[in-house]
This record gives sequence, C-alpha cells and structure tokens, in this order.
Amino acid sequence: MFDARHSIRSHVAGALSSTDVGSTVTLAGWVAKRRDHGGLIFVDLRDRSGIIQCTFDPDASGEAFITAERVRPEWVVTLTGTVRRRPEGTENPNMATGEVEVIITEATVLNTSETPPFEIEPGIDTDEVTRMRYRYLDIRRPEVFAALALRDRVVQRFRRSLEGHGFMEVETPILGKSTPEGARDFIVPSRMSAGKFYALPQSPQLFKQLFMVAGIERYYQIARCFRDEDLRADRQPEFTQVDIEMSFVTEDDVLSMMEDVMHEVMKEASVDLQVPLRRIPYAEAMSRYGSDRPDTRFGMELADLSGVFAASEFKVFAGALGGGGVIKGINAKGAGDWSRGRIDALNQVALDAGAKGLAWAAFTSEGEVRSPIAKFFTEAEMAGLREALQVEAGDLVLMIADARDVAEEVLGVLRLKMADELGVERTGFDVLWVVDFPMFKYDAEEERYAANHHPFTMPREEHVDRLESEPLSVGSYSYDLIMNGYEIGGGTLRIHNADLQLRVLERIGLSAEEARSQFGFLLEALSFGAPPHGGIALGLDRLVMLLAGAHSIRDVIAFPKTSSGADPLTGAPDVVSQRQLREVHLKTD
Ligand code: AMO
Ligand code: AMP
Repeated sequence: MFDARHSIRSHVAGALSSTDVGSTVTLAGWVAKRRDHGGLIFVDLRDRSGIIQCTFDPDASGEAFITAERVRPEWVVTLTGTVRRRPEGTENPNMATGEVEVIITEATVLNTSETPPFEIEPGIDTDEVTRMRYRYLDIRRPEVFAALALRDRVVQRFRRSLEGHGFMEVETPILGKSTPEGARDFIVPSRMSAGKFYALPQSPQLFKQLFMVAGIERYYQIARCFRDEDLRADRQPEFTQVDIEMSFVTEDDVLSMMEDVMHEVMKEASVDLQVPLRRIPYAEAMSRYGSDRPDTRFGMELADLSGVFAASEFKVFAGALGGGGVIKGINAKGAGDWSRGRIDALNQVALDAGAKGLAWAAFTSEGEVRSPIAKFFTEAEMAGLREALQVEAGDLVLMIADARDVAEEVLGVLRLKMADELGVERTGFDVLWVVDFPMFKYDAEEERYAANHHPFTMPREEHVDRLESEPLSVGSYSYDLIMNGYEIGGGTLRIHNADLQLRVLERIGLSAEEARSQFGFLLEALSFGAPPHGGIALGLDRLVMLLAGAHSIRDVIAFPKTSSGADPLTGAPDVVSQRQLREVHLKTD
C-alpha cells in the first residue's frame, strides 16, 4: 500500500478507515469533487492512494468553510481534521473509505487549477488524442494509473525472478549501428562525423551476443527499442523489451527458464500459469490455425479439403490443386443464416488478406444449402465436405483454394474475423510456444531470401548443407511465446561460428564484402572463442496490455504516440532550427 507520509501530510487518503476514528489527520492532494449542500460542503480529496470524503461545517471552522467555498476541481490542498464515522445511512459501500469522513478544521490551498478538459474519473469517452495531449491529467484517472502501477509490478517481478536465475542487468548503447530486425531504423545525424549517422537500436541483439563472447553468460535488460514501422494497436515506434541472453544452453534450457519466469510474472494477474507450456511447431500452427501466433482459446480449426475435392469440376479448385496448391476451409458455426450481403463482405476480407476469392457454402438452420458453387459439387464431395468440417444446420463453410501458405494465412484471418463477428467466447490466458520456424522466407518483392527471425539464428545442423541449394527447407532453433493470439516474445539459438554466420549473411543477399562492412565486428567477435548461446526478448508493452485487459499498448505506456508517430503533448516530431541542422551537416528544402 502506498504510504507517503511526510512533513506536510500525516496520513494518505485511501488508507483511512474506521480504525482511525477520532484521530486528527493532515491530508494533501487534489480536489476530486466538491458538493455544496448550503450548510455543509463536501470535498472528495484524492491522492495516489485513493479518495476520502472531507466535510466542511462552519461550526467546525468558519475559515476552512470559506476556503471550501472557493476550491474547484483539481486544486491542490492540504486539509487537517478529525476522522469520524459517517452518520448512519450516509456510508458509501462503493468507496474503499466509505465508512468514514474527515471533519475539516484547517484548509490550505497550495495551488489552483484550470478546469480540466475532461473529467478525472473512470470510464470517460473523451477521444484518445485529447487524453494524450493532457496525459498528466489522464494519469490522474484511476484506470490509467492502475495500468502504470501494474507495469511497474510486472517489471519488478521480472527483475526479481531473473536475478534469482543468475542473470545480470547490463545496459547497451542507444546510439549505435543499425541492427537488422526487419524494420526501418530511426537515424541520428552526427555533428562530429559529418555525413555519418547513428541508428537507434531495433533491439540490443548484437550487443547481447557480444556479452556472451565477453563471458557474461546470463544477461538481461529492460531495454528500450526503436522501430520506424507502420503503427498498430500492438506496435509503437519505441517500446520496451525484457531482453535476455544465455550461454552454454540448449533450446530447452531457454524455454524452461522463461517458463519459470513467466510463472512468477503471471502471478501479477492472479494466474497460476501451468508449465511446461505447450509447444506447437510452426507448420502445425499454420496448418491448424492459419497463424504463427494462434489464439487456441477456441476451435474453428482449418481442415484440408484437398482430398475431398481432388477430382473437382470447379475450375478454381481444380486449378489450385493442379498448380500444387491446396483447398482448405473453416466452419463458422452460427453464421449459416447470414445474408448474402454479409457473406459478400467476407469476400473482401479474404481479398485484402491476399486470396484470389472466397468460396462458401451456407447451411441454413432450415436445412437448405446456399452456395454459388454448390452446383459444381458431386454428392460425394458434399458428403466429404460435411464430414471433414462436421457441418450441421446453421453453419457457414468458408474455403480458399491457393498455394498452401496463402490459403492458410487467409483462413487464419477469416477465423479471427468470424470469432469476432460471432462473439465466440475467448476468456482466460492462453500461453504457448510456437517452435521450429523455417530459417528463411522468400521475399517476393525484393526477390531474395530473408531470415524468418533474424540472420543470427542457428540453422538446424542437419540442414546446414542445404543452406545454398534449398534454403526454404532449412529449419532453425527458434521459438515465439504466444499469449491470446499475440506474439509476446521471440528468440532463437544463435550462430557462434564466424564461417557459418558469413554463409547465412550471404544467403540473405549480402556479398562477403557487405557482410564484413556491416557485421565485421560480429564476425570478428565470433572468431575469439564465442560460446554457444541463445536468448529471447519479450515485448513488455504487449504483455502488460494483456494482463491489464487493455486493447492497445498505448494504454500501458506513460506517454505513447499516435498512429502517425506523433506526441500530441510535446508536439514531437517537430522542426528544428537552421542552426541545429547546419551543426549536424544537414540541409532541408
Ligand atoms: P522480435 O523482433 O521478435 O525479436 O521482438 C521481440 C518482441 O518485442 C515485441 N515487439 C514490439 N512491441 C511493441 N511495438 C513494436 N513495434 C514491437 N516490435 C516487437 C514483440 C516481440 O515478440 N532481438 C530479437 C529477440 C531475440 O532473438 O532474442 C527481437 O527483437 O512482443
Ligand atoms: P469465378 O469462377 O472465378 O468467378 O469464381 C467463382 C467463385 O469462386 C467466386 O465466389 C469466387 O470468389 C470464388 N473463388 C475464386 N477464386 C477462389 C480461390 N482461390 N479460392 C476460393 N474461392 C475462390
């Protein structure tokens, strides 16, 4: 319990109770509310600990009563008085301190306040930008304060638990060299080296590997990371990782250490996390849920219908299968009576997710089948479809015919969309590992292979001889921690051999020269007795968001940025003077 007694204040508001009846107390805080009942004035006084009702009676103190007549919401005051039990019938069971009140004998105004732009109370519907513009007032509201307090407790748990596992916290530079986590860098011009730039770290990835070469063996850091990417509810340009690295470990060692730590941390949400956690291979996650961060709190799993439609006369299906693709589908139970318009809207969702179209069959609760393509289905195919997806009256079947990865990804999007639309219950905490990611993916736009996690990930040794010939078939030691369909963490075992590191960098399109100029320091470090090592980084903001039951990481960040990366409070980003630009050797036009 917060208890900041000091020379100005003898007690905190939120802790007063019937055990204090008769005591004289001095409180300090903000006027939350003021109600003038003519003869009596009630002021709800708020400090960090909570709220207490203070009563001004001219018979107790004429002077204090006059002060109470002029105070307004959010004025800062100290109040002295005597705690008494509230008169019978006036107790407030909705208030922690609702049994008592303080009869004020002395009141001092420490500061006045403008009228706040929104009410300082729970559940307001003020737009978010206004709340961000006055974030210092927003934080006075209990739910925002509670989110920051939860974040603090989660961080303390991480620190205690990691220290208990022998980790030591070491800081890494903010002004550094670009690390390729896949996003764009924020860059900072250098005054002292004309024409050169620092990059803000997308993560401390390479530094933590250098710590392993340095013999630190167990490192962690509550680390600030910066990524210039398009923002979403779970993405901010600067965010915080619980960053971890360990030497002489196997994948199992990293996962079980992390499970111990998560078990501790989840206590902050009163969850007794059962460990070991489930591990789902990447290929299985994609195949069953159409996502590498599956929300497994509900079913609606993807079924492979390629066999059912192997001899289909429907040209879209036959074409996909002929081209080496698949036909997969989901069964959205409860949408069988949806209108044509509503189903057509799903078509757009599928197209936006990368499909060429959406095939569907609605099974109405009256037992009819509605589908623009059912005419192509034989009776056997219809029966096969019903069986594969356990179809009953009232179901809507959605099918995609395409290359396997496209079909699965699109159905993964539709699965979540349908769960939202149908209000499928998703409660509790669903925590699992997705493991065994392929080492590479093919970036069609850039026409090159890219690392799935990052290029410092250890490929499976039994696949290493295929690095050059068949990169997409190379597996890796990699794992993501998933909670409720969010990726809250990810990590890998690392390459600790300089030659292998160079081969992987070349595989993602760097020439040996480019690899040496960008990552020479890493390659060099690896050549000085680098131990086998691996690690993980958790997205602290996402984790706290989920524990707080919030829908955006902005709700658990003290001063977040808008979706366009702006800070409405300070006005950042902003122009700078010509002189500042000249000093860092930059021109703008
Ligand atoms: P990765 O890029 O997967 O791995 O990041 C780790 C975790 O950080 C969180 N995260 C974010 N949170 C908020 N806003 C963002 N823009 C954002 N980007 C990522 C996610 C993610 O799981 N160096 C590696 C880790 C390692 O290999 O040890 C890394 O950064 O929760
Ligand atoms: P078409 O004959 O191309 O007009 O398509 C007939 C139906 O199949 C339409 O409802 C399309 O949305 C759907 N469709 C088209 N391509 C695909 C695909 N790749 N997978 C599933 N359905 C598709």
